[in-house]
Amino acid sequence: MPKDKTKIKKCLFPAAGYGTRFLPATKAIPKEMLPVLTKPLLQYGVEEAISAGIETMAIVTGRGKRAIEDHFDVSYELEHQIKGTSKEHYLTEIRDVIEKCTFSYTRQIEMKGLGHAILCGETLIGNEPFAVILADDLCDNDGDSVLSQMVKLYDKYRCSIVAVEEIPLEDSNKYGIVTGKTEEDGAIRITDMVEKPDPKDAPSNLAIIGRYILTPDIFDILQETKPGKGGEIQITDALLVQAKKGGVIAYKFKGKRFDCGSIDGFVEATNYFYEKW
Ligand code: G1P
Repeated sequence: MPKDKTKIKKCLFPAAGYGTRFLPATKAIPKEMLPVLTKPLLQYGVEEAISAGIETMAIVTGRGKRAIEDHFDVSYELEHQIKGTSKEHYLTEIRDVIEKCTFSYTRQIEMKGLGHAILCGETLIGNEPFAVILADDLCDNDGDSVLSQMVKLYDKYRCSIVAVEEIPLEDSNKYGIVTGKTEEDGAIRITDMVEKPDPKDAPSNLAIIGRYILTPDIFDILQETKPGKGGEIQITDALLVQAKKGGVIAYKFKGKRFDCGSIDGFVEATNYFYEKW
């Protein structure tokens, strides 16, 4: 059978940020490695990608992030120490992840924004549609994961998709905000989107959360995208170019999402997962 070039096979994880809000914890440990209970944030993201049928993980790292590569690799010393002991089961989950996927890495040399981080991933993705997970947005579902829901929607619309949720309007300056026309229950074709607007300028209270499916033309658009909000290259600005051609769907996902980039969200996620433990 010929390969399906339109299937989502790769997931990009921008993971180069400094995590300043979590200093000093993030001085020597990547923020993506901070654990909610016993599992690092990034592993939750990788497991979500696996649940969406994705087996190739492309991670954009930066200086001081080597722990990420070590985490998704075998630790022979550890394996040797606990093999055959009552503690061996603690390794089951991560062994399972390592067996199921391949990981590739590239480094973002300068921090020039999320759009720039995604552009750095082009070398790992190539010319095919792909998913993006921002690991500090931690999602949980009883049924299909957020990314699985989005992959299903992609199969229908075949264009870029962003996950959105309603937020209190006063928080609009923390998110990309979208507006558009309803296509079907939960799916909106985006007509406008703005990165972190003041509440008075926000086109709605629908905020993008850290789950995207992007068509590969986004890379050429990102090449041309000028620095926007905060002097950084914003994925929201590049997506607006696609949206103007009618090519971006906002999806009101089913499930819970925690902003683990903030202390409050991190504590909330920890309590939530502890209750489910
Ligand atoms: C990024 C995006 C923003 C999006 C958010 C979701 O912002 O630029 O549009 O709403 O992720 O978490 P950041 O949180 O990296 O500042």
